[in-house]
Amino acid sequence: MAERNKRRIPANEKETANTGNLAGVGENDKRPQMSGGAGSAGSSPVVLDPNTSASQPQNTPMTSGPAVQLFADELTKMLYTENVLLKMLRVQAEQAGDADLHDQLERHRQQTEHQVARLKDALHELGKSSEQIACHVADAFVRDTNEAVNRLGSDLRVPIYVAANIRVEHFELGAYDSLIEMAKKIGQISIAANLKNSRDEEEAQLVRLMRFSTTIDPRKLIEKAA
Ligand SMILES: [Fe+2]
Repeated sequence: MAERNKRRIPANEKETANTGNLAGVGENDKRPQMSGGAGSAGSSPVVLDPNTSASQPQNTPMTSGPAVQLFADELTKMLYTENVLLKMLRVQAEQAGDADLHDQLERHRQQTEHQVARLKDALHELGKSSEQIACHVADAFVRDTNEAVNRLGSDLRVPIYVAANIRVEHFELGAYDSLIEMAKKIGQISIAANLKNSRDEEEAQLVRLMRFSTTIDPRKLIEKAA
């Protein structure tokens, strides 16, 4: 687990991940940011679940009860999501037909493997099984993307894949933000810090995709194919 959490982020990604904002993506992005940047999950104050016994020390990680079960449930849904996206990234990287997009998707596929492992580690730390709960939103992302390629034609595969992956990364960012807050509220600070690594990878991928999207002109793709 230690290796996964020490993944080296290239310098150009590190700045974005550490600042916790989407610099260069869009000035109108009002997504709430985690305060304190990378690693803040480990230093934020722990807020206990209201149902927690008042006698329970504030810094004792909870391992049972409804709040833990809710968190575990969300973790298993995210595990399902990441596994769906793992397959999606593999297929899309193969079919991209564009070297730059292939490299971006393949690189993020490798990161996603670590994200899957982090989620399994979190469930293991909670003493919960890694049995997955379906996330129908994740399935819909894949289905909608495939339908768009079938409907519009493979000449537009690159912009379709880029737009789809941008939507996916926004979705994953929101999911990890929620998971990190849940982990902190039940005192599972090390799990929150590990999930923050995945959240930062999603954000860095979103920034790369947004930059890449500015280089794509669907009109030229259609002209080229004609
Ligand atoms: Fe992702």
